[in-house]
Amino acid sequence: MDKVIYERMHNNLLKLDLCHLETRIDGLLEDSSNSKKSIVEIIEGILDEEITFRESRIANTRIKLARFPFIKTIDQFEFTFQPNLDKERVLSLFSLNFIEEKGNVILIGPPGVGKTHIAISLGISACQHGYTTYWTTFQELIETLRIAHKQNRLKRKLQTFSKPKLLIIDEMGYLPLGIEESNFFFQLVSSRYLKGSIVLTSNRNFSEWVDIFPQESIAAAILDRLCENSKIIKIIGESYRIKSKKKLGLFEKT
Ligand SMILES: Nc1ncnc2c1ncn2[C@@H]1O[C@H](COP(=O)(O)OP(=O)(O)O)[C@@H](O)[C@H]1O
Ligand SMILES: [Mg+2]
Repeated sequence: MDKVIYERMHNNLLKLDLCHLETRIDGLLEDSSNSKKSIVEIIEGILDEEITFRESRIANTRIKLARFPFIKTIDQFEFTFQPNLDKERVLSLFSLNFIEEKGNVILIGPPGVGKTHIAISLGISACQHGYTTYWTTFQELIETLRIAHKQNRLKRKLQTFSKPKLLIIDEMGYLPLGIEESNFFFQLVSSRYLKGSIVLTSNRNFSEWVDIFPQESIAAAILDRLCENSKIIKIIGESYRIKSKKKLGLFEKT
């Protein structure tokens, strides 16, 4: 190969911002010539590699912007540890049809059973499939809305929270709300109602929601909107954290 043409090809790839391809092109061309591929197959293979690289870079950016507290995928989830959990039903959520349908997922169960793990796995999958995602705890969300209200920016903040295709609200139920705060949450749920999906996790059963919100009517209104077109997954089982501690011998065997 002519050295000048070869160097120009490398420079052109850099000029076109195809930096990944520039590092891979020599190997790709060598593999292709060894396998006696047609020119169309070679070009197709090269473009394919670039597209895969770009898509994974965009997905990684989405994952960073989502601000997950930890990264775990569903294949790291031991379904055998939660025999009462319907594995097929959980896995079917990963078709992400619920996002297309602007529906919600509500994960309910005691601490440590994997609600956050499943919610994050769904979020990561959403990012990988092109959906903008944002993760927050319920407490952080309410605090953000409270401060925004104080600064006369509530409407704008609510708009920000209605933008991502998927909003994950983790750990609802640890803190009871005042009337004003529950109204903020109602406005948020209303602003996303049938427009964008929410994955919500809670350690409280629906019957206990009246303890989180100061008025039964507001609890009912929130529940109505969240539950319409939603998949509800109840996890009844032992905490995985306790399992890990048992393994380390931190609990006495009974
Ligand atoms: N069935 C499981 N298989 C693998 N890891 C699990 C399982 N359940 C929980 N975990 C892990 O245990 C820890 C606590 O789970 P988490 O999802 O935070 O529980 P929850 O949100 O229900 O309190 C996390 O590190 C999570 O990845
Ligand atoms: Mg959790």
